[in-house]
Amino acid sequence: MRYGQLQALTDVTLSVAAGEAVAIIGANGAGKSTLLRTIAGLHRPAAGKIQLDGREITALPAHERVRAGVVQVPEGRRLFPSLTLEENLQIGATRGRAGEWNLSRVYELFPWMPARRHMTTVFLSGGEQQSVAIGRALMANPRILLLDELSLGLAPAVVQRLYALLPDLLESGLGVLLVEQDVTQALRISGHAHCLLEGRITLSGRPADLAPADVEAAYFGFERRGRRG
Ligand SMILES: Nc1ncnc2c1ncn2[C@@H]1O[C@H](COP(=O)(O)OP(=O)(O)O)[C@@H](O)[C@H]1O
Ligand SMILES: [Mg+2]
Repeated sequence: MRYGQLQALTDVTLSVAAGEAVAIIGANGAGKSTLLRTIAGLHRPAAGKIQLDGREITALPAHERVRAGVVQVPEGRRLFPSLTLEENLQIGATRGRAGEWNLSRVYELFPWMPARRHMTTVFLSGGEQQSVAIGRALMANPRILLLDELSLGLAPAVVQRLYALLPDLLESGLGVLLVEQDVTQALRISGHAHCLLEGRITLSGRPADLAPADVEAAYFGFERRGRRG
């Protein structure tokens, strides 16, 4: 993926199985959002392909990918600030697939929502807004959910509550590709992790097999001890 002269992603290969969470960790500017947006169809890669269940979707426009089940929770939530909580959720349904997720399921997941469903989302806290963004994505009945920095700007306790939602979603067969600067949170929930540095995957593996020093090196680009010179 290129932005003019800048090649933002190079040779990135990864897969996500149904029911599995895969983490992309990397510093600011590593290319994480570019990767998710490319999968969501908002950028066209210069080379390579994107497949969903063995079907190539590289040429599908973004709205058709949503309908096929590739749904993104974008960085910074991107809610419609002048619409109510419920209207924001309903937008997810109009763009998505048919399936088990609907307003009452989302309200079961977030029991605080019904009382505030007619409130415009600017009056909600950051964590509540992030919950609406997740709810909106679920309303589209995703097969794979792309989560871009859920933790951004939120207190650790709030982040923990949001991440606590994921095991049940995975259990239902959803695939999750999550991008994080919060490495601890991302590794805890994921079956597989990739470190992204300047648009390249520098380290991959199951979180339990990744040594913290190697993750740090892959994340920040430090040379590994013993490899210098
Ligand atoms: N719309 C854009 N136009 C030009 N360059 C961009 C654009 N978006 C991101 N970039 C550049 O691409 C690289 C990767 O950015 P991004 O994917 O946002 O990284 P991350 O999400 O990991 O912080 C950075 O060097 C960034 O400055
Ligand atoms: Mg980003």
